[in-house]
Amino acid sequence: MSGVHTDRGSRGEGGVVGDDDRRTVLFVVGTRPEAIKLAPVILAARDRTDLKPFVLSTGQHREMLAQVFGLFEIVPDEDLAIMKPGQDLFDVTSSVLLGMRDVIRKHRPDVIVVQGDTTSCFVGALAAFYEGVPVAHVEAGLRTYDLAAPFPEEANRQLASRIATIHFPPTEGSATHLRDEGIDPGRITVTGNTVIDALLWVRDRLSSAASGADAENDLVTRGLSALHTAWPQIESDRPYVLITGHRRENFGGGFESLCQAIADLAGAYPDWNFVYPVHLNPRVQEPVKRILGGIANVSLIVPQDYAPFVRLMDGARFILTDSGGVQEEAPSLGKPVLVMREKTERPEAVEAGTVRLVGTDRQTIVAEAKRLIEDADHYAAMAHAHNPYGDGRASERILDAIAAHLAGESNGSPADRGKPDSGTGATAGG
Ligand code: UD1
Ligand code: UDP
Repeated sequence: MSGVHTDRGSRGEGGVVGDDDRRTVLFVVGTRPEAIKLAPVILAARDRTDLKPFVLSTGQHREMLAQVFGLFEIVPDEDLAIMKPGQDLFDVTSSVLLGMRDVIRKHRPDVIVVQGDTTSCFVGALAAFYEGVPVAHVEAGLRTYDLAAPFPEEANRQLASRIATIHFPPTEGSATHLRDEGIDPGRITVTGNTVIDALLWVRDRLSSAASGADAENDLVTRGLSALHTAWPQIESDRPYVLITGHRRENFGGGFESLCQAIADLAGAYPDWNFVYPVHLNPRVQEPVKRILGGIANVSLIVPQDYAPFVRLMDGARFILTDSGGVQEEAPSLGKPVLVMREKTERPEAVEAGTVRLVGTDRQTIVAEAKRLIEDADHYAAMAHAHNPYGDGRASERILDAIAAHLAGESNGSPADRGKPDSGTGATAGG
């Protein structure tokens, strides 16, 4: 991956579509994890002579998306800016669909890249499909096969697979799901997860920031100093547990229970710190602040820029989370993770022993965390670094496969343009 380019100003990635021979790749980015996972692909696309990146922000997230664009110095070419107070899934779905219609008709990209399982991802794919533009789905094929968990992400990801043209599963396991659903193996490329590309990019910059070697690290340095201001205890010798949580299926009872578990742990281990960058969703903020606010060794801080968040993961003794991305990153850092979900579509690190599913039951979370705190052998067995999700070269594989697809398509029939995969899930093992 290339370094960050700084000469873009407010022009955006793509400039004027069609102003040269490169094929235009429109990236749909709606939320924090999509931005983190597509940033390395966008940066790598800038350096190619055959492809030109064009970034569409749906604005499903606002502050949390701006944090990532800022770090990677990405300026969206178009921003649908859809966020409004009290929005629900209907609002997000309809605003993204209508906004995308206009952007696609205006810019006529050659391919549209969507990432993961968010509403922006699925609706971005749907809009591309309606307009006959090929859809490339990054992080395809992860499954729980339970439409209720994660909700609505499992449905979003399955629906994107039904209409995508080319599929980029991160692991062999996710590729197997796609093949078993009848998707043409010729349209599937196993790439690794681009989150590892992003993580390695940030770790490099964190270490040069630490050594003071690189004056270009301003954004990283600024992010770290904001973290030190928000949470000065990061300097202390006390061990700490890092916490994140935001899943819709945990709203209500699940969140109450997991917050109670954290309060129990903070009471049982007054010499430990518990640091929780709280997601901006009001349905997360309310129970977290009500139950955990005011506990001396629990620090509720604002969502962190990606670089300081990686620093927080790296320094934590272990992580309590319901996040998808964190489950993928922590194994590379050798950090045990207790996942506050009943099911995961990311089984690889569970199988390797660094991740354990603990659900949202108060007693179970407390018992599993106590084991990590008190049982050194158990801790050591979970704290080994490994990389089931990628080698840092996923972006390159994705762009090569997109370029090859576009080259094949220009030699083929125009009727094939934008045609989704013929597989419809009818033939298992197909
Ligand atoms: C969304 C995705 C989820 C992903 C998560 C990553 C869907 C249905 N959900 O969930 O898959 O794991 O992002 O974090 O696509 N908010 C802000 N500013 C922000 C971001 C959020 O104020 O920058 C608040 C707003 O009140 C917003 C609410 O959070 O309405 C919920 O955001 P939304 O994108 O609907 O759901 P997430 O829980 O963030
Ligand atoms: N993250 C971050 N700042 C934070 C919390 C998380 O940069 O304060 C990063 C984290 O490293 C991971 C991604 O955000 O790459 C995960 O986002 P989130 O948990 O919101 O979504 P999910 O992965 O569950 O879809």
